[in-house]
Amino acid sequence: MPAILRAAGVDNTIPFLREAYTFISRRCDGLGSDLFSTRIMLTPVVCMRGADAAQFFYDGGRFTRQGAMPQTVLRLLQDKGSIQGLDGAAHRARKAMFMSLMSPDRISHVAELLERHWHVAVAQWASRPEVTLLPEIGHILSRTACDWVGVPLTERQAPAMSRELQAMIRGAGQIGPGTLHALTLRRRTERRMRRLVRDVRAGRVQAEGDSPLATIARHRDIDGAALTDATAAVEIINLLRPMVAVNRFITFAALALHQHPAWRRRLAGDEGWLEPFVQEVRRFYPFFPVIGGRALMGCDWGGHHFAAGDWVILDLYGTNHDRRLWEEPEQFQPERFKDWPGHPYTFIPQGAGDFMTGHRCPGEWITIALIKRAVRLLCGMRYEVPPQDLSISLSEMPAAPRSGLVISQVCAAEA
Ligand code: HEM
Repeated sequence: MPAILRAAGVDNTIPFLREAYTFISRRCDGLGSDLFSTRIMLTPVVCMRGADAAQFFYDGGRFTRQGAMPQTVLRLLQDKGSIQGLDGAAHRARKAMFMSLMSPDRISHVAELLERHWHVAVAQWASRPEVTLLPEIGHILSRTACDWVGVPLTERQAPAMSRELQAMIRGAGQIGPGTLHALTLRRRTERRMRRLVRDVRAGRVQAEGDSPLATIARHRDIDGAALTDATAAVEIINLLRPMVAVNRFITFAALALHQHPAWRRRLAGDEGWLEPFVQEVRRFYPFFPVIGGRALMGCDWGGHHFAAGDWVILDLYGTNHDRRLWEEPEQFQPERFKDWPGHPYTFIPQGAGDFMTGHRCPGEWITIALIKRAVRLLCGMRYEVPPQDLSISLSEMPAAPRSGLVISQVCAAEA
């Protein structure tokens, strides 16, 4: 078997952090290979990209997420005991619980909740000189997520909840004091959610019968045991936090409407363009750069043998921008998704493969529904976009327009 190509440099931790979204693609392009080996945090790792790599990584239960991410990222995103740390039959049983929450009714309900909270927020925006969309949409989504999951939220608690959930997302891509602050905030949310689970189980708080909160509180794992209070709290946060993270895609969608104004007119004239527009937002803009795994078994791909325990990083952003899969990938072109038949391994902003058996994100349909509704609402509003720095740095994880996208002169109804 030929030796795998090695990237230049003894250890690539600093280049990885500096180049972030483009780290793997640049080296794959330079080496003319879809996989290469290097060291990150002094640990040997194989980096890979492309549709075949995604299939190898996501299918067949070859890779666990255990030991595949830095501890701080793990603690801020999925945390101990969560579905992402499970494998095999235990993972499939927990995944079935998550997927049972994704019925078409519940997904249209999430969009209705978003619209309700959006209108309340926009009525306030109208009286302010300027509004920064990224955090403000985060606040709307935090209220939407709590309502949808069934988490009671008073007016007093709402700002802190939104701040805590947004800090977890920001902190996951940072190293330093920001991460520590986010971890402290996360602990507060965890305590509150553990208390809520205990109250629901003791009958002190009523959770609606089929709400996500009730479903998680009564879920039994493959061994027949209920989730511990701590694990149930982690899984509740696993719904709330990523729903709030959709603020990044919605902000990117607002940016796309601003920078490609023809699409605003096109979307107003034909609802059929909404889905292609939203899919292109998810493909084009940077969100989850990569996903890590550790081989559970010996396996071969791309002429390389992976031994059990080997560390691997799959390039999600680079696969969505792979020019062998996407024509002019650096152009924003929703037309590419018109009549797109779908593909489990080429378009992977939220993971690849099968929803039920693999680690692909169970929240993909909710994400699409939320962005679609937000785009419709943005198209129905009038506002100005004052001069500001709208650049997106591909070195910062998670990425966003630098200004957060400031709007002014907001008027709720289209003239
Ligand atoms: C904001 C947009 C989102 C992005 C970019 C995103 C991204 C991802 C990615 C890349 C994975 C795969 C991780 C892996 O392979 O190990 C994942 C998994 C997951 N996502 Fe999302 N996600 C988003 C929204 C959501 C939403 C809205 C929910 C819940 C309502 C959600 C819940 C989860 C859960 C529970 C997992 C773990 C699945 C498993 O291990 O089987 N995500 N997400």
